Amino acid sequence: MDMETHQPVQKKVHSEQPACVSRRDFMLFSGAAAVSLATLGLTIDMANGQIPQQVRYKEFPRMLVGKVSQLDGDTPTPFHYPYDHPFCRSLLFKLDSKGGGGVGVGENIVAFNQICTHMGGMLEGQFNPGYKTLGPCPIHLTTFDVARYGMVVSGHATQGLPQIILELDGDEIYATGVMGLMYGHHDNRAGLVEG
Ligand code: FES
Repeated sequence: MDMETHQPVQKKVHSEQPACVSRRDFMLFSGAAAVSLATLGLTIDMANGQIPQQVRYKEFPRMLVGKVSQLDGDTPTPFHYPYDHPFCRSLLFKLDSKGGGGVGVGENIVAFNQICTHMGGMLEGQFNPGYKTLGPCPIHLTTFDVARYGMVVSGHATQGLPQIILELDGDEIYATGVMGLMYGHHDNRAGLVEG
């Protein structure tokens, strides 16, 4: 009650939805990635927590990349996706617990592009199953967390590893798309930058 006017006090109600960007989206589109979005002239509607679908996720032809029964928890399985190109080298992991974006009964099967997002170092033979990390990169030592959407744990890179979107069909594991900008690309939709 307003003591001067003797009218009921109206409470302010905020009708806007709070920004609700997932951790994955935050990691992908913070820092340098946000600059890329501005370059593309694409708008992020932060009030609704919506990032344009065409930027967040690029579908590619479905491709068989492995079998659940053949995965080894200590040694990731290499494959190329979406193109047979060095920048598209990727790794398929079977983690000992749930991973972000994972598929399978335990949601523990995940895959990532294998090229460091900083300056293209090759992340090879540097998987630590205990910590679920990939790295350090041999060039500037960035390490990525493959249980948490490929986010950067430490090092120079500002963008997480692009995650390969997977789906299961029985024992077979298929790649169907890529979440995040692959090294050597200015836009996943535009293909590779050669030269
Ligand atoms: S190229 Fe990997 S940290 Fe620089």
